[in-house]
Amino acid sequence: MSDTKVNFIFAVLFSVALACGLFAQEAKVYNSFHPGDLWLDNNGIHINAHGGGILFRDGSYYWFGEHKISGRQGNKAQVGVHCYSSTDLYNWKDEGIALSVDTTDENSEITKGCVIERPKVVFNEKTKKYVMWFHLELKGQGYSAARCGVAVSDNVTGPYQYLRSYRPNPNKWPVNATEKDTTIPEGGDTTLLKLSGNERAAAGYYLRRDYPFGQMSRDMTVFVDDDGKAYLIYASEENYTMHIAELSPDYTSFTGKWYRLFPGGHREAPAIFKRNGIYYLITSGCTGWAPNAARFAVAPSLFGPWEEKGNPCIGKESEITFNSQSAFVLPVRNKKDAFIFMADRWKPENPIDGRYVWLPIEFIDDGIRIQWSDEWSLDFFD
Ligand code: DGJ
Repeated sequence: MSDTKVNFIFAVLFSVALACGLFAQEAKVYNSFHPGDLWLDNNGIHINAHGGGILFRDGSYYWFGEHKISGRQGNKAQVGVHCYSSTDLYNWKDEGIALSVDTTDENSEITKGCVIERPKVVFNEKTKKYVMWFHLELKGQGYSAARCGVAVSDNVTGPYQYLRSYRPNPNKWPVNATEKDTTIPEGGDTTLLKLSGNERAAAGYYLRRDYPFGQMSRDMTVFVDDDGKAYLIYASEENYTMHIAELSPDYTSFTGKWYRLFPGGHREAPAIFKRNGIYYLITSGCTGWAPNAARFAVAPSLFGPWEEKGNPCIGKESEITFNSQSAFVLPVRNKKDAFIFMADRWKPENPIDGRYVWLPIEFIDDGIRIQWSDEWSLDFFD
């Protein structure tokens, strides 16, 4: 039998076993974090919320993430976005699928088999709606569509109703565009094709190329600032440049105000937070599912100037972010200066087995640092 057939049979058996709850273990009560270990929910099943983000509402944390299935096909969205709730951050209750893929309409943008990654949910105080943003790739198109999708719900756990997807800000130059960015060079943009991707991005090639269609949007996160304005931060320009785009007052579209960050920097997996009026942005490099070194930058305003600070991780395996990739930074309630770095240890061969690496962020003179710990608890922040 060919390897492909064996893998397929294994994946089917694994999925059936999983669906029947065969891999459920005795539910545990946790009182600490164990980065990289299996993390069981209230039903004794490994939490299935990859590339996720967390929203705090009415005394509970809600964790939203990619629901993966076993085998390579688990890298595509077969189910949707999973939600869990917790009051202590250690023990998580399965709240079910918050946003389901469309299993009936092949023409839906979120039809089963599309790619839904890095979902993030925010609450809009004006509309009282929960708004979910995610990276969307259309079925059968690899990662070329590079879109962001948005869905809304009246209830935090869903069901979320899919609204639409975007290539952000067509026919809008970024606020911080230079004249060079918006001007086609002598001889035309094709003269830039001899340059490396980083150099092309720095020379505005992708920005100008996508100006009429809207900018590419892949790895992303959403950030709501203290004034209630929300922003989508995403890897754009073939992942060579990050963009930050202001969202409309209802958080479901764009105002047209946006900025480019680190042109040619080649980053993805943005995770952002604010402490004492300073913004911190942690990202990874771009090596697919394989881990690489994280980097961080700080700024007094979301729109910069951003000062690059290097790798916040220290110690063994710090050059591969402890074998993981950033997903989100979680501010812990009722603790001062308490922020958790949330990252994914991807398993592209069997994505459902992907692990979560949560570590405390420490503040040092000129920035932050993140150290490995086999086990830690929120007392760390006391
Ligand atoms: C790295 C990204 O950060 C992930 O979210 C995913 O898109 C993989 N690349 C796909 O290779």
